Amino acid sequence: MNDKTKYQIMKNREFLKGYSAGDAGAEQTDQEQELPGIPSLKKRCRPQTIALPVEFDKLGISKDIWDLVMGRESCRKYTQTAVSLCELSFLLWATQGIRKVVGRKEPVTFRSVPSAGSRHPLETYFFANHVEGLKRGLYHYLPGEHALEVWDPAKDYEAELTRALCGQHFAAAAPVLFVWSALPYRTEWRYGVKAAKYILLDAGHMCQDLYLACGSIGCGACAIGAYDQDMLDELLGFAPGPSADPLYECAVYAAAVGKVI
Ligand SMILES: Cc1cc2nc3c(=O)[nH]c(=O)nc-3n(C[C@H](O)[C@H](O)[C@H](O)COP(=O)(O)O)c2cc1C
Repeated sequence: MNDKTKYQIMKNREFLKGYSAGDAGAEQTDQEQELPGIPSLKKRCRPQTIALPVEFDKLGISKDIWDLVMGRESCRKYTQTAVSLCELSFLLWATQGIRKVVGRKEPVTFRSVPSAGSRHPLETYFFANHVEGLKRGLYHYLPGEHALEVWDPAKDYEAELTRALCGQHFAAAAPVLFVWSALPYRTEWRYGVKAAKYILLDAGHMCQDLYLACGSIGCGACAIGAYDQDMLDELLGFAPGPSADPLYECAVYAAAVGKVI
């Protein structure tokens, strides 16, 4: 290991502890300085939206937590069956759905997954390859409306996506490929330098919910952490970064999903 790598590893270990060397951790956060934060829901920015079905009782959801936890595993092979729109809707609900909203002026969302300070820095995008009732394309989930926003319907992403996922064709060709992004400032506003650690912890909780929710409806999931940051960000249409823009957004995690029974 050369000195540069060792130095970077030391920085990463500081990150795991949730602070930076020097006095950055001691500085007042933007919230403490009473600076404005940003909302935990991204505004709709595409003209076409699709309402999501919520008749989850039709899905025959398994509620046996023992079986779901014991049977959880990463699945990389899926059947030819399409994921139904209701199944997709359930998975979106299970990973980012809003349970309740508290406050009017600066509403705080409480969701199906925990989040440090309920800041909810994550956004859900997905590439739909084989979803009943959806054209192939890229979509964005709007948790506030429990609806989809058609992000980019026109393209066939498979080849570019395979490259962006470091050659993992099974994931690019999966019926659904979720990509989760973060708007780090949502969490940095409250937690300063500790935010990066919390954002990734949030992402872990969310993906575990995806695994369990998939298991409960005959789907399988595989977490994807191996991807080319710049390529994936570009496919999602994010500005190159990192930048100091409070609305800066980048991909942080992904997961492939398909039917297994
Ligand atoms: C953070 C993280 C990143 C991962 N990235 C990938 C990946 O890029 N490709 C892949 O095939 N599996 C990936 N996995 C799945 C692991 O390989 C898998 O969880 C591990 O082999 C254990 O298998 P199990 O999930 O069936 O218990 C990832 C898992 C995690 C938690």
